Amino acid sequence: MPNFKTLDDLPADLSGKVALVRVDLNLPMNGGSASDVTRVEASKPTILELAEKGAKVLLLAHFGRPGGARSSVLSTSMVQGDVEEVLGKEIMFVPEVAGPVVEQSLGILRDGDIGLLDNVRFWPGEEANDADFAASIAAHGDIYVNDAFSAAHRAHATTEGIARILPAYAGRAMERELSALDAALGNPEAPVAAVVGGAKVSTKLAVLKNLVGKVQHLIIGGGMANTFLAARGVDVGKSLCEHDLTDTANQIMDEADHAGCTVHLPYDVVVAKEFAATPASLRTCNVHEVASDEMILDIGPQAVEALADVLKTCRTLVLNGPLGAFETTPFDEATVALAKTAAALTQDGSLTSVAGGGDTVAALNHAKVAGDFTYISTAGGAFLEWMEGKELPGVAALSA
Ligand code: 3PG
Repeated sequence: MPNFKTLDDLPADLSGKVALVRVDLNLPMNGGSASDVTRVEASKPTILELAEKGAKVLLLAHFGRPGGARSSVLSTSMVQGDVEEVLGKEIMFVPEVAGPVVEQSLGILRDGDIGLLDNVRFWPGEEANDADFAASIAAHGDIYVNDAFSAAHRAHATTEGIARILPAYAGRAMERELSALDAALGNPEAPVAAVVGGAKVSTKLAVLKNLVGKVQHLIIGGGMANTFLAARGVDVGKSLCEHDLTDTANQIMDEADHAGCTVHLPYDVVVAKEFAATPASLRTCNVHEVASDEMILDIGPQAVEALADVLKTCRTLVLNGPLGAFETTPFDEATVALAKTAAALTQDGSLTSVAGGGDTVAALNHAKVAGDFTYISTAGGAFLEWMEGKELPGVAALSA
């Protein structure tokens, strides 16, 4: 677990101080407002705690990828209303991140008030991690708090550079995230199972290579499983499969063997001739019986039962990615069933379950068990890089 300062290390009274707080407001939008405010809710305790201690809080965030230039549709003012709704108080939008406008705004804000600075990625210095740009923002603050784990895989000015200039602290969401991740892969209670699903092996090669040396059970699902099945000589018909990666898949399975990690692939699967909701050609069969005009769209019920038995023997679970094409019924069944088993074991107290990464949260919400996991990460790319075993620059800078 990295060694970093938290809000507990701050004085009780921050009146007269300015806290620069990096949050992740990269929210999915639906029309004029956010369709998911989980990231704001995650940082709410940090923001309110600092405001209650009397600090003027300036929120730093990126929104989309404007590429170093202003764009009216990517201004953080687009999410101001969502942030105000979650925080339950008004905040001031400041259309800059440094300079006289920020200074004037600080003159208007009172102790305990909150300002929202514009999209830090409007300035090329952000992504370039330019020291002068970082210093120009840092000049307005007394302390820096990073509460954006989901942006911590970026070595940018507001995720990394500023931490080296101002006294730096992990916010409450960052703290919770790091301790949950530590319990899942850093110092987990064994046996550990990892479920890695999703369409392509190519996007998760580094994750798989890291996991085989760390977990006792590696459960592979989704389209990725087809590549592993093909590597074992199974004819996967017209399933999504990266045939050029079968050697790599074999290599990963060999490494797993050496490390004492059992790789679990399905032995029954749900197949169809076309990918559509409940197609006429739908059937469940043994992996060796997939016809040349069929595709695998989910893992079968026997495999799900066997995986549930594996989870029952484990103390820790890391979950990333769905087991089947879960957005389309009935190919969500395995994902939902295994998520429910993991949730029930977590609630019984026998399993610590941590999940994260893009589709994963959507899959758990779909299974209606998101609230029953030990921890669900709000991160996408950062969660994957953490699963790859990489050091995240935003986290490293906090412990420097
Ligand atoms: C995310 O949405 O995963 C983070 O905010 C990082 O965004 P990025 O991939 O544009 O850096």
